[in-house]
Amino acid sequence: MNENKTSNLDSVLGRLVVEHGLTTPEELQECLELQRQKLSEEGSNGAPLGDLLVEGGLITERQLKRISPLAEEVGKGQQIPGYRIKRRLGAGAMAAVYMAKQLSLDRVVAIKILPRKYTNNEQYIARFYAEGKAAARLNHPNIVQAIDVGKSGDYHFFVMEYVEGRTVGDDLTRHGRYSEKDALKVVIQVAKALDHAHKAGFIHRDVKPKNIMITADGEAKLADMGLARAESDREAAEAEQGKAYGTPYYISPEQIRGEIDVDFRADIYGLGCTFYHMVTGQVPFEGPNPSAVMHQHLKAELMPPDHLNNELSSGVCEVIEVCMAKSPDKRYNSSGDLLEDLEAVAAGKPPQEARKKFDIASIAALDDTAHSGAAPAWAAVSGTVPLTAQPVFWTAVLGWAVAAIVLILVIIMATAAN
Ligand SMILES: Nc1ncnc2c1ncn2[C@@H]1O[C@H](COP(=O)(O)OP(=O)(O)O)[C@@H](O)[C@H]1O
Ligand SMILES: [Mg+2]
Repeated sequence: MNENKTSNLDSVLGRLVVEHGLTTPEELQECLELQRQKLSEEGSNGAPLGDLLVEGGLITERQLKRISPLAEEVGKGQQIPGYRIKRRLGAGAMAAVYMAKQLSLDRVVAIKILPRKYTNNEQYIARFYAEGKAAARLNHPNIVQAIDVGKSGDYHFFVMEYVEGRTVGDDLTRHGRYSEKDALKVVIQVAKALDHAHKAGFIHRDVKPKNIMITADGEAKLADMGLARAESDREAAEAEQGKAYGTPYYISPEQIRGEIDVDFRADIYGLGCTFYHMVTGQVPFEGPNPSAVMHQHLKAELMPPDHLNNELSSGVCEVIEVCMAKSPDKRYNSSGDLLEDLEAVAAGKPPQEARKKFDIASIAALDDTAHSGAAPAWAAVSGTVPLTAQPVFWTAVLGWAVAAIVLILVIIMATAAN
C-alpha cells in the first residue's frame, strides 16, 4: 500500500519535472533505472525519486521543495475515477483547478478539487451538489459549462468545460487596462451570461476579472457559475487575504454586511467594479487590507471613472456608476436593463435606463438632503450626468420660456395700447 502510494507519487513527480523542463525524458529514465537498481539491492527499501533527482544534480533541493506539493496534489487528482489529471491550471482562495482528460468522452475538461476541510461541512456539501447539478442544466455560450459534481475518497470535485485562454484578470495584470470598446465587448457578453443565469434563478456572487475567461476567438465566458461558496461572502473575502488578486475589490456592500437575501443586484455591482477596473486600470477601492477595502465599498464615494481615464464616454461612466450604487435599489432593475444600456452605449447612444435611475435618485436626494443634511452616496455620480439629463435643467428652461412669453405679451399689449 505504502509502496503503491510512493510509486504513484514518483510517477507524477517524474512527469512534472519533465513537463516543467527541469529534466529531459532521458535524464528521468536514467534516474528511474537507478531507482529500480536500488530497490533490487538486498535489504533496501529503494529511494524516493525526488532524492535521486537531487543527488544526481538534475534538480536542486529548492526545485524539489517547490514541485513536491504540486505532485502530491496532482497525485490526489489522479485518483478521480474516469478522469486523468494532466496539469494544474491555477488556484484561488478556495480550491485548485486542474486540466484533465474525461476518459469516457475523450475530451479535455477542467476540474476544481475542493480542499479536505470542506468534507465535514454537511450543509456546504449539500449546497455544492445542489447548485452544481442545477448549473449543469444551464447552457449559454458565455457561461463556462458545468459538467459534473462528485466525490472521490475524501475529495469533492466540480467538473467543468475547459476554456483555453486567459482571464480578464491576466489581461489586467499584463496590460493595465482595456480600451472602452474592448471592455464593452467583454462586459456585454458577461451581462448576457448574467441575464440568462438570473432568469434561471442563479446568482453568481463572485463576478470578478479572474472569473471571466477569454477564448482565443475573443469570446468571454463567466466561470464558477453554480459553485456554492462555503463561508459567508465576507469570510470568503477575508480568507483571500494576502493573495495578489483575491482581495475583495468586487464585493457588494450587501454581501459585506452579510445579508442573507442577496439578489442579482450583487452581481450587477460585481460586474460594475470589474468594468471600472477594466477601463481605468484601477480597482474602485484600494486599501492596505481586506477590511479597509470593504469599509470603502460601504462608505466611500467612488472616484468617477473619467477622472482616471478622460477618454471615457459619459455613457460608460453613467452605466458603471449605476451598477456600483451602494444601495441595490439605485442599481439596474435587471441584468436585462443593464444589457440594454451597454448595447446602447456601444452603439454611441445614451444609456436610457441609467438616466431613469439618475432622475429617480435626484428626486430622492432632495428628500434625503432635506432630512439628514448629509450628501447622499450617489452625490459623486451626479457630476458626470449631462446637464440635459437632470430635471433641474428642464425646470429652469421651462421657467425662462414662460417668463419670455409673458414679456413678449406685455410688449405686444403695450404697443397695441399706443
Ligand atoms: N474552466 C476553466 N478552464 C480553464 N482554466 C480555468 C477554468 N476555471 C479556472 N481556471 C483557471 O484556474 C484559476 C483558478 O481558478 P479558481 O480556483 O476559480 O480561482 P480564481 O477564480 O480566484 O482565479 C483561474 O484563475 C483560471 O486561470
Ligand atoms: Mg474562479
